[in-house]
Amino acid sequence: MNHTVFNRLVETLSQNRLVLPAFPQAALRAREVATSDQASAIAVAREIAKDPALSARILKVANSSLFGFSFNTGSLQQAISRVGLEHTKTLVTNFALMQLMNPPKGAYGDLIRQVRDHSIEVAAQAYVLCESQIDFNANKALLGGMLHDVGYLPLIQFARSEPDEVLRDPEFLPGLKAFHGQAGNLVLMYWQFSPELVALVTGHERLEPDESDQITVRDVVAFANALVNEQTEESHTLLLTSALARKLGVSELPSDNADRVSEVMRFFA
Ligand SMILES: [Fe+2]
Repeated sequence: MNHTVFNRLVETLSQNRLVLPAFPQAALRAREVATSDQASAIAVAREIAKDPALSARILKVANSSLFGFSFNTGSLQQAISRVGLEHTKTLVTNFALMQLMNPPKGAYGDLIRQVRDHSIEVAAQAYVLCESQIDFNANKALLGGMLHDVGYLPLIQFARSEPDEVLRDPEFLPGLKAFHGQAGNLVLMYWQFSPELVALVTGHERLEPDESDQITVRDVVAFANALVNEQTEESHTLLLTSALARKLGVSELPSDNADRVSEVMRFFA
């Protein structure tokens, strides 16, 4: 990694001056409304409708058999009341993250795309594992996967005006790895996300299970992330016999795992 960028990044982080991404406005309001005392499908629909891309994606989920729905509705309000407010909130967050990771053309965009593609794959893997084996809410797992590497976004943004050869250096993204947990923590604090999601972005590289008896979103996503990242047969076997795998109750992957994962990935790509 280019040492000048690296040094400036360390300095910027230590002075708490890293510029953090804003959460998309319509999604933010929809989340607030869905959480408030007066939450209703109508109120949430009103906020989501302000963002046509977001509206289209919520409707697409509500009409998709892939997620167990097939409501065949063109009404946002109807879609939301059938999907449920809690689930709508999770979906809105997922799609807002996709918007934030929408890559522009060029070297900078290529870095964002790498993070986005990896996040979608981990999200899909986490979702499918919870559908078939892990006793954990699959929608929460999906959101966790989408979110886990969000810390890379402000780091890549920081280097945006660097020359292309710096951004295209294959060592550039791996060089940011040491900072992405810390940066993710800053982002989630800024967005006021829940402590369990903060624990996920800061600790998803750790392969030991969390101490609590309950399965956590960090347990699930750490496992899915390792599964996506592993390169060898040996590391695959090690992972499936680890303490984390035992806690999650996964000892082998079903034969249709890869197909199902690609199906979910295509939905978000
Ligand atoms: Fe990561």
